[in-house]
Amino acid sequence: MANTSLLPRRQSLVPFICFCVMIFTLPSSQGGNVLITTSLGEGSHYFVGKTIGKYLVKHGHNVTMLVSKAYAHRAENPDDAELNFIVFHQSAEQIESVKERHLSYSKNALEPSGAAYLYKLIQAHRKGAADDCDELLGQNPDVMRRLEEGNFDVVVYDMIWLCSLMLAMKLNVPAVLSSPMAAPTMLSMYAGNPVNLAYTPDVMNGYNNKMTFFQRVNNVIANRVLYSLLEYHHVPYNSIRERHQIRPDLSGSIANLVGTYTDLFLVNLDFAVEFPLPLNPNIITMGGITARPASSLPNDLEAFMQSSGDGGVILFTLGSYVTHIKPEFLEPFAEVFQRYPQQKILWQLAGEHKFKLPPNVKTMPWLPQNDILGHPKTRLFIFHGGNNGFYETVYHGVPAIIIPLTGDAIDQGVRLKHHGFGIVLDKTNVTVDILRVAIDAILNNDSYSEAAKLLSSRLRSRSMHRVIALHSGSTT
Ligand SMILES: *[C@@H]1O[C@H](CO)[C@@H](O)[C@H](O)[C@H]1NC(C)=O
Ligand SMILES: *[C@@H]1O[C@H](CO)[C@@H](O)[C@H](O)[C@H]1NC(C)=O
Ligand SMILES: *[C@@H]1O[C@H](CO)[C@@H](O)[C@H](O)[C@H]1NC(C)=O
Repeated sequence: MANTSLLPRRQSLVPFICFCVMIFTLPSSQGGNVLITTSLGEGSHYFVGKTIGKYLVKHGHNVTMLVSKAYAHRAENPDDAELNFIVFHQSAEQIESVKERHLSYSKNALEPSGAAYLYKLIQAHRKGAADDCDELLGQNPDVMRRLEEGNFDVVVYDMIWLCSLMLAMKLNVPAVLSSPMAAPTMLSMYAGNPVNLAYTPDVMNGYNNKMTFFQRVNNVIANRVLYSLLEYHHVPYNSIRERHQIRPDLSGSIANLVGTYTDLFLVNLDFAVEFPLPLNPNIITMGGITARPASSLPNDLEAFMQSSGDGGVILFTLGSYVTHIKPEFLEPFAEVFQRYPQQKILWQLAGEHKFKLPPNVKTMPWLPQNDILGHPKTRLFIFHGGNNGFYETVYHGVPAIIIPLTGDAIDQGVRLKHHGFGIVLDKTNVTVDILRVAIDAILNNDSYSEAAKLLSSRLRSRSMHRVIALHSGSTT
């Protein structure tokens, strides 16, 4: 995961390489005991945590994932047999609340982004996430005993569920924060990293690094608003901490303790696409950790890919959070795809739908996204702009159309546009004509795929990705 800036000067490269070889080939007897708690077991945050876990296992560590009963099925996945799982109990109502919060992403997906949208999202999660925490700490004596007896060396936690930071404090072990979002400003606030808002756009405001005077002013204001909202979100954890007597010897609120208790910050970004900014050495970039060389596809899918001939395949997904979106939003897609008889379309679509699909479209409730993006027939990726998918498309050099739906997707859109490897569409204005113009532009103009290939070669040249390529095989 070493960033190139950490490379020592040329003459000392040999010991550095020996060091790398050593840490990646450590025998398992040297392994640590790692607890990973990335949200409750759902969505893109879970996938990032699980991927970190799988690489740690490959390097000889013992990894345990903590998930909620709401997602107990994670523990049954035969692909993840190398990971240990601890499932914590939740009451029936609370499981209902967890699922409802998950659905709120779908329900709010088409609302205009902005502070009001964010406030609504935070409101929907604030109390529920704290209640989850109370249940974990207060109503799971067996789980807590197992955790205490687990002799963990480190806890890797997700910044969207600070309960897991409290858990690390309670177990009295060091904590590593994992940020599945590429949110350098947000992370910097916690990690004590200097940020200059004159040239570093804050999350979710749609600016790039060349802001006008008024945009800079706005960037500063948006920054203050965002952090007030985040602090507001974290407030309930403080009373939970008091109630459960978690490390009363440590001073500061939970929001402060993110910075003071955490030893290392992992952030899912890479400067192949991110705008330049300084990073302290306690922040390690892991941009594109879920991206890796493509594995072969199941036979039926491979046959479908090959059947596309020279036209190639368009991959379309709205991601793991947006499972229930109103059908009117999807209709223009069904209609526009029939105008591309030369292409085949793979559409990740779960649940019922009423619209008629043209014969060149294949829908599946779940798709091996990384492997399809790495397939030579794939020409274009149309998606909601989630950070994992974004780095996967960069890694494989596939141009994209982003329709930012939730949270940080707008930031991925800005970077897509800035680097010229795709087109961003407005989610409130997706019509057949608008889609057609965008798809035509990318299929008929090589500049997009050339830009994508350039970024791909930059991202793959990173030491983390060279190591991942070496070890790739079964990390799904
Ligand atoms: C790995 O962690 C699990 C806890 O989830 C524990 O039961 C097991 O003993 C650990 N194995 C080793 C080798 O430490
Ligand atoms: C929708 O997009 C089209 C084409 O970009 C534009 O002409 C039109 O004004 C937009 N409509 C709205 C309501 O934003
Ligand atoms: C291809 O797209 C690029 C970037 O949008 C544009 O500058 C260029 O003029 C386009 N070329 C053609 C032939 O349309």
